[in-house]
Formats: sequence, structure tokens, C-alpha cells
Amino acid sequence: MEKECLFSGKKVQVGVDSGYDNYIMAIESSCDETACAIVKNGREVIANVVASQIKTHEKFGGVIPEIAAREHMDAINIVIDEAFEQSGLKPEDITAFAGTVGPGLVGCLLVGLNAAKALALVHDKPFIGVNHLNAHLCANYIDTDIKPPFMALLISGGHTQIIDVESYSKQTILGETIDDAVGEAYDKVARLIGLPYPGGPKLDKLAQTGDPNAYELPISRVDGYNFSFSGLKTAVLRLVKKLKSENGNDTLTETQINDICASFQECVSKTLAKKLKKALQEKRYKQVVIAGGVAANSEIRKKIFEFEKDGYKVNAPIMRYCTDNASMVASCAYFNTNTFDDVDVEVFSRA
Ligand code: KG4
Ligand code: ZN
Repeated sequence: MEKECLFSGKKVQVGVDSGYDNYIMAIESSCDETACAIVKNGREVIANVVASQIKTHEKFGGVIPEIAAREHMDAINIVIDEAFEQSGLKPEDITAFAGTVGPGLVGCLLVGLNAAKALALVHDKPFIGVNHLNAHLCANYIDTDIKPPFMALLISGGHTQIIDVESYSKQTILGETIDDAVGEAYDKVARLIGLPYPGGPKLDKLAQTGDPNAYELPISRVDGYNFSFSGLKTAVLRLVKKLKSENGNDTLTETQINDICASFQECVSKTLAKKLKKALQEKRYKQVVIAGGVAANSEIRKKIFEFEKDGYKVNAPIMRYCTDNASMVASCAYFNTNTFDDVDVEVFSRA
């Protein structure tokens, strides 16, 4: 792909067909992680720096956008310097600078995107804008030789999608959630049973000691490849109220909490695996990947890796590339997965 250097307008080749080693520096700041990475040829991570804001937002039980944006401003230069230091590379060694455009929190996105644009301008390199969801998918290219076509399950705090990935740049969403995203459902249920933010990983941990068959929870019946998780969340709310009133002291026992976590996790993972399998069979794909923060979930990974028994090739990024990071953004820029090349591109909040 031919791209233009921002200051001089000089044309350079970037990406798979460029014919030389590419080192893309990317910045990610869509939510509560300030991240910078340098990736060689879309697959080899040379530097990966993530500054997490979890400690700050824990106090509030969720991400406060204005506070998050200010923390990005404090961290942005530090993560960029650290990425250069880790890699031993200099700005002139970078092929192009990439940044997340959206979806995400507008004030947060602005910090990282403008830093990426400024770096490209100052060092006279191309700028590449990246869609955060596409970036999550591209995490599957890191440290692997996976190539499309494949089926993908994208599960994050804001999205739940089954995507037909025909090529690096051609993707079709076959189905998505009609209400809550999986990560959102995890975080809401976690809050219901009194777990601190971010609830998803904590719920996952407790589920491992609970009984997945302790409580029967409803599996949503939605047509095609779409999902719905709000009914399940309401069912957990009702169950929690009932158990608390039976206990007579407005609290749940440790066993009850673990069993609720395990039963909820069983219900969610079963639903996701069933629809994903159906999509694979209908499209006759032999490869499947999972992506997004919730792809770090132990039971969802387990159920999807079981597809290997039926002859499917399954991939999931290692944990640090499932949750928000900039390596996936650099990979997405390299593979030119629906990128935005215009330096005037504006941040956007929703997909
Ligand atoms: O992809 P991500 O980092 O941010 C978005 O782009 O939304 O995903 C964050 C979501 C949160 O809802 C978090 O609770 C969830 O991923 N998550 C998990 C696990 N690890 C992260 N949910 C369930 N089990 C996990 N192990
Ligand atoms: Zn994300």
C-alpha cells in the first residue's frame, strides 16, 4: 500500500506487499489503558508498553471518562519513550505511526490519536488510523502465521460479534448482541454480587471453584447469529435477591457467590460456543479465532479450543494481547485492515 509522509508528502510503501521490513509504532488510548508498541511486519512485537488505570477507576466502580482522559495525558509521553527504549529503535527507524480512531471514549481517544499524528508529522512518516475492533481481531496475527479466511468471535466490554473474515481487509459481521455486550454483562453481574471493578476477570476466577450446574439460568433465544445477554443479567439479579432474602441477612455465602459465577459463566460460554460452531459449519471454515478482552476468559477459551477435537484450527491471542494493547493496533495498521489514512480523520465513540 502506498502511503504519504505527513510533512513532505513523499510516497512510501507500507504493509504486506512493501518488500522490506516494516516497524510500525502504534498508540492505543480508547478506554483505560495508555499503550504504545512497535511491531515488526505485523507479527513480531519489538516493544509493548501498557499503563493501566485500573487502580484509579477501582475507587469509582467503573471508568470515569474525564479522569481517564487526564490520566492518558499524564502517561502518553512516558509510554512512547518506554517503547523506543525497549526496542532500541529511533524515530527514523519507524515505517509509520498508527493510532486508534474509535470506537471508545472521545476524550481518551483524542490523546492517543493526536500523539500518533504529531509523531508522524514531526518525523515525516505516514499516519495510519485504526478501528479498535479490527485491532482486537488482528491480535491473532501476533506471533502466529494465521491468514484469513477464518471465522472470528469478538467479545469485549462494548461488543459481541461473529465476524466472517474473508481477507485481511474484507470482513462481514454475521451477528452481534442486541443489548449488552458479553464484557458488559460480566461487569454488571460482578457488581451485583459485590465484586470490585473490573469484575470480568474476578468473576472468571471465582467461577473456577463454583458448580456450573448449581443454578439454572436462561440461555437467550435470539435468531441467527445475534445474541442477547440482558435477560441473563436480570435472571441473576432475581436469583441474588431470592438467595439474600432466604439467607435473611442481605448477604450471599461464599459458596453461593462461586456457584453464581460458575453458572453464569457456563451459560455465557455455552451460548457463544454454540453460535460460533454453527457459523463455522455453515461457512465451512476450518479456522476460528477469538479476540477482545473477554477472550481472556478461561471457560470461553476452553469451550472454543474443544473445537480442535472436531478438526478446526483454533487461535486465541495470549492474555496480554486480548485486553487493550497497542501491538494489535500496529498489526492492524500493517495488514491494512480497514484503516483510515487521512490525517484529518476524527475520533468516534460508537461503531
Ligand atoms: O477489549 P477490552 O479490554 O476493552 C474493550 O474494548 O471493551 O475488554 C474489557 C472487558 C471488560 O468488560 C472485562 O471485564 C472483560 O473484558 N474481561 C473479562 C476477562 N478479562 C477481561 N471477562 C471475563 N473473563 C475474563 N477473564
Ligand atoms: Zn478493547
